[in-house]
Amino acid sequence: MAYGKWEQLTCVEHPLVQHKLTLMRDIQTGPKEFRELLRELTLLLAYEATANLKTTPREVETPIGKTKGEIISDKDVVIVPILRAGLGMFDAVLTLLPNASVGYIGVYRDPETHRPVEYYAKMPELKDKDLFLLDPMLATGHSAIKSIAILMNQGIAEKNIYFLSLLSAPEGIDEITAAYPRIKIYTASVDERLNEKDYIVPGLGDAGDRLYRTK
Ligand code: URA
Repeated sequence: MAYGKWEQLTCVEHPLVQHKLTLMRDIQTGPKEFRELLRELTLLLAYEATANLKTTPREVETPIGKTKGEIISDKDVVIVPILRAGLGMFDAVLTLLPNASVGYIGVYRDPETHRPVEYYAKMPELKDKDLFLLDPMLATGHSAIKSIAILMNQGIAEKNIYFLSLLSAPEGIDEITAAYPRIKIYTASVDERLNEKDYIVPGLGDAGDRLYRTK
């Protein structure tokens, strides 16, 4: 926790993460490998992001004897991908927390106002849950901020939101942390900046297009 000037940010610098991220950035990497790498990277980010989930003690009988173990109540977890690139991440988190509930948020950028507009939101019960919000690219932060507002309107506490983004721009981190100082952000890289089209530099291009070969 705490990276650069941001208290709420964890940047996962593990060699496996950096290796897979480098392969994902490569313009030569095709959609099949890109999807596989995003899934693997999400498993690694989620490993870090779940480090403080509550556990309850449980006695367990092994073939040799009894011992005390710890159990996560993953029914108290909600996973929310932001459409559409977040869809490339949710299956990995659901693999780790198979009894979690899944909600979906769709936000688009209004071409005139440039503000984020909600077009879809389907949520399970959020009160008292831990929530993993997923979007591989934290660029301007506008869609994440809009999504967090939607989630908080439906009863989630800010401190229980974990935002997982593969790549983050400093501008987006500044925006989110100013608006929501208590959410926690996990990323694999803080890149240099946004360009004039709000793409992350050096980034990896358009994550949705690379996942689903739409360009
Ligand atoms: N969304 C993307 O897919 N890529 C960027 O660089 C920025 C936003």
